[in-house]
Amino acid sequence: MDKLEVFGAKKLKGSVRISGSKNAALPILAASILSNKKIILKNLPNVKDIQTMIKLLESIGSTIKYSKKNNLIIIQNKNKLKTFASYNLVKTMRAGILVLGPMLARYGKAKVSTPGGCTIGVRPIDLHLKALAQLGINYKIIDGYVHAYSKKKLKGAKIRFPKKSVGATENLIIASSMATGTTILSNCCIEPEIKDLVNFINCIGGKIKWIGKRTLKIKGVNNFNKNEYTIMPDRIEAGTYLIAAAVTEGNLKIIGINPNIIKTEIDILRKLGAKIKIINEQINIKGTNNIKNINIKTAPYPGFPTDMQGQLMVLLCKSKKRSVISEEIFENRFMHVAELNRMGAKIKTKGNKAFIEGNTNFKAAELMATDLRASVSLILAALSAKGKTTINRIYHLDRGYEQIEKKLRKLGANIRRVS
Ligand code: EPZ
Repeated sequence: MDKLEVFGAKKLKGSVRISGSKNAALPILAASILSNKKIILKNLPNVKDIQTMIKLLESIGSTIKYSKKNNLIIIQNKNKLKTFASYNLVKTMRAGILVLGPMLARYGKAKVSTPGGCTIGVRPIDLHLKALAQLGINYKIIDGYVHAYSKKKLKGAKIRFPKKSVGATENLIIASSMATGTTILSNCCIEPEIKDLVNFINCIGGKIKWIGKRTLKIKGVNNFNKNEYTIMPDRIEAGTYLIAAAVTEGNLKIIGINPNIIKTEIDILRKLGAKIKIINEQINIKGTNNIKNINIKTAPYPGFPTDMQGQLMVLLCKSKKRSVISEEIFENRFMHVAELNRMGAKIKTKGNKAFIEGNTNFKAAELMATDLRASVSLILAALSAKGKTTINRIYHLDRGYEQIEKKLRKLGANIRRVS
C-alpha cells in the first residue's frame, strides 16, 4: 500500500493552480444520466472518486470518452441505460447514491446500493428517499439496496427539506428537472457546488431558478440539449493550500479560484493573522509565526466547511492560545486528532468539540490516514514538522486531491510517495 514521506519545516513558496471541484463534478456526472445528447465536461479533476463515478456510468451503459490528461470527458447515452448501481462502486464512493434521482426521473425505476457508513459518520440517506417519495416514488430497502420505482413519470411537488443536506438537495434537483410540472425545493443547501449543478442542468436545457436564498423553482423538461460545461474550481483544495501557506509561514499565490466562494475561510485566516491579498481570481497569502486563536463551528455554506475542519485544526495547534472547534455536521470527524497528538499537539475532544491548546511545534512521526480531509491535515502538520513523517494508508488522499505531491513539490516541499 502506498505511503507518503514528508521531510518538513520548509516554508512553501510559489504559485499553485487549483483543479476542478470533485464535489461539483460528482453530481454533474450523475446528472448526465438524464440526457441522451452529447455532454462535454471540462476541468474535471483527475482523482479517484471521479474515476469511480465514471466506472459507474460505464457500468450502466454510458458511452464515455475520457481524457485524464486534458481533464475532459465526453458522455453520450446512445442506448437505454441500466438502472442498477452496484455495492462495489457505491461503497468506495458514497456520491454513487446521486444516480438514484436521475435513474428514477428518466426510467421510473432504480436499484442502487445504499452507501453505508464511513469513518466520519453514519451518513444515512433518509432525506434523499423521503423527498423523492414526494415526487411519487415508492421504495424499499432490501439486502443493502434501495429498490425504487414509480408507476408514472415523477410529478413535481412542494418539498421542504427538514434538515440541510448537500446530497439530498442535489438528488432532488436532478430528479425534479425531469419531473412533470413544477417543483419547489426549500431549505436547500446553497454550497457553490450546488449552484454549479444548477448552472450545468440549465446549460443543457433545464429550467431551474433560485427564487429565494434557499429556495429553487424547477420546471421539469422532457429533453435536454447537447452542450459543454466547465466544472468550477475546488474551493476545499484552495482552502487547503491557503492553510499550507499559513502553517509553514510560507508565501503562496493560489491561482484560478473565485475568492468570493471562500470568503468565510479567507476572513478567518485574516483574523488568525495571515496576510491575504486578492487580485481577481488569485489569492496571495503570507503566513506568520504569530497565529491568533479562535472558537469556531462548522456549518453548511456559507458557514465554515466541515471539509476544512481538520486543516484548520492543524493551524490552530500553532496558535499562542487555546481554541475550540465544534464539528456540527458529522458525528465522528475527529479521526485526525489522535494522530496530531502523536505529533506533539495537545488536543482533547469531548462530544463534538475539540479543545486545542496551541503552542505546538509538530514533531515528525509515523502516522495512519483515515479519511480524505484527515489525510491532508496530517500532510499539513508534517510539512511544518522537522524530520521525516511517514503517512500510511494514503489511498483516501487520491480520492480527492489532484497531483498533491507534485503540486507541493513545486512549492518547495520535500514529499515523496513510496509504493
Ligand atoms: C457532501 O456530503 C460532501 N460530499 C462532503 O464532502 C461534505 O463533507 C458534506 O457534503 C457536507 O458539506 C460530496 O459532495 C460528494 P450531507 P453529503 O448530506 O452530501 C446528515 C469530502 O471530504 N444526513 O450534507 O453526504 C448527514 O449524516 C466529503 O469531500 C442525514 O441525516 O453530506 C450529515 O450529518 C466528505 N440524512 C448531514 O446530514 C440524509 O439523508 C450533512 O450531510 C443525508 C444526510
